[in-house]
Amino acid sequence: MFTVKTIIAHFALSYMFWCSLLLNVQTTPPGIPLIANYFTTKGRYEEANPYLLVDILAVNKSLVNPPLEECREIHLTAIIRHGTRYPTSRNVQKMRDMHQLVQNAPEGKSWVREVRQWKMWYTEEMDGRLVQKGVLDHQHLAIRLSKLFPLLLSKRNLQDGHIRFMTSSKHRCVNSTMSFYEGLVKLWDIKDEELDFKVNDTLMRFFDHCARFVETVGKNQSAMAEVDKFISSAFMEGVQKKMADRLQVPFSNVTSDMAQASFYLCAYEFAIKTINSPWCQLLDTEDALVLEYANDLKQFWKRGYGQDINSKSSCVLFHDVFSRLDRVASEIRSGSDVTEAVTIQVGHAETLLPLLTLLGFFKDSMPLTSSSYVKQRQRAFRTSKISPYAANLVLVLYDCSGDLRLQAVLNEKPLAFPGLSVHQGVEGPPLYQDVREHYRDLLQGCNFEKECQLFPSK
Ligand SMILES: *[C@@H]1O[C@H](CO)[C@@H](O)[C@H](O)[C@H]1NC(C)=O
Ligand SMILES: *[C@@H]1O[C@H](CO)[C@@H](O)[C@H](O)[C@H]1NC(C)=O
Ligand SMILES: *[C@@H]1O[C@H](CO)[C@@H](O)[C@H](O)[C@H]1NC(C)=O
Ligand SMILES: *[C@@H]1O[C@H](CO)[C@@H](O)[C@H](O)[C@H]1NC(C)=O
Ligand SMILES: *[C@@H]1O[C@H](CO)[C@@H](O)[C@H](O)[C@H]1NC(C)=O
Repeated sequence: MFTVKTIIAHFALSYMFWCSLLLNVQTTPPGIPLIANYFTTKGRYEEANPYLLVDILAVNKSLVNPPLEECREIHLTAIIRHGTRYPTSRNVQKMRDMHQLVQNAPEGKSWVREVRQWKMWYTEEMDGRLVQKGVLDHQHLAIRLSKLFPLLLSKRNLQDGHIRFMTSSKHRCVNSTMSFYEGLVKLWDIKDEELDFKVNDTLMRFFDHCARFVETVGKNQSAMAEVDKFISSAFMEGVQKKMADRLQVPFSNVTSDMAQASFYLCAYEFAIKTINSPWCQLLDTEDALVLEYANDLKQFWKRGYGQDINSKSSCVLFHDVFSRLDRVASEIRSGSDVTEAVTIQVGHAETLLPLLTLLGFFKDSMPLTSSSYVKQRQRAFRTSKISPYAANLVLVLYDCSGDLRLQAVLNEKPLAFPGLSVHQGVEGPPLYQDVREHYRDLLQGCNFEKECQLFPSK
């Protein structure tokens, strides 16, 4: 049933997509909001990889497989964000406020009527749970990854227990893990097997366990000063003004929270139901770019390069990954079998962003600040691309005629280790020993206990 449904959905989607191209009605496929590329961590995975709109199970092997022919993949660790989810309680309240404002707005253009008629259906109880689309995100990702790495994500390895699963304790992550597994089980028509997984928040929700992060960033509003400044800047004010004009309500009635809530409403209706909701009419591309920057700024100061402790809080996960790679490397060198072919670790955007930051990815030459919106238009730190739903960092260890090489892949596209892009003129991923050398300081230090102490001992 799953395959039939997938095939039907696949044909329907490609049909709609190609028709829209042939008829030249729209530049974006029908049903896709014009601002869909700017939804940051509330964005669909498909916007980061548009070819999936034609075929959700398509993979581009030439993108991830090393050009070196003699390479054989021997281990893969994937750190994956949960799939599409409902809004959290806090956001639901903001949406409700915005919905209320629209109820009081005068009936104007037809789309305003449509927004007014829209029924608020999000409730606090939904509290960030995985939605059906999120189940599919992970089922499809599992199938694509098994196509990309058939020697590792194989039926044999699954049945022999060489594929390990670990997840954060949050229901949306546990459900995502089960969905990933289900994708494989259905693909290989495996019966009477049960998913065996470990819950480990020490690793997948390290941010909750790092006292220095919790106290100096998590609970500290001053740490978000740049975000607050941007939210009260002329750029945000412009968004609120335009929104007030469109709705014909006084400017003072549209708060920045409401402007953000409209953005989220457009994003959630799209991610969850795949519809271009009337809420999207309240924002143009320029507005979306401002709101995208506001959220990137928040992620930058809370999860990225903004504060050192953000990335250091992921030291425990960093060591977990590298000690596993080391273990596999020594198994290979000693000629024994690799016990753990695949490790699937499911967590949050808050798990991925600090780790990517620790590894030095997506670092701009200048920090993101409240005054650098224009200068940062071409920034590398763009969460719409980095961490949509089901975002995934895959580290693949290859054995290339005795040389071990490590390839990083983010959202199914190769990612060059910063400072390691040219590997002594050899095409393909860097030698594993060069990667270890590159991160030597972190491998020898980056002690979670020490970094996360509230009062560092001198
Ligand atoms: C796959 O990736 C390669 C390398 O970037 C690119 O040249 C090619 O067009 C891609 N193929 C498809 C079908 O997208
Ligand atoms: C705008 O705010 C004022 C003051 O709170 C209130 O009386 C008025 O009803 C609001 N207008 C709309 C359209 O919400
Ligand atoms: C998530 O898991 C729970 C508990 O197993 C289940 O009740 C719920 O239906 C699942 N949700 C989805 C979307 O699969
Ligand atoms: C989680 O992982 C950490 C680090 O590897 C380990 O020390 C801890 O025992 C694990 N916890 C559970 C509950 O498995
Ligand atoms: C809160 O953040 C500000 C700015 O980063 C910092 O100066 C201050 O020390 C922090 N407060 C606490 C309690 O850590």
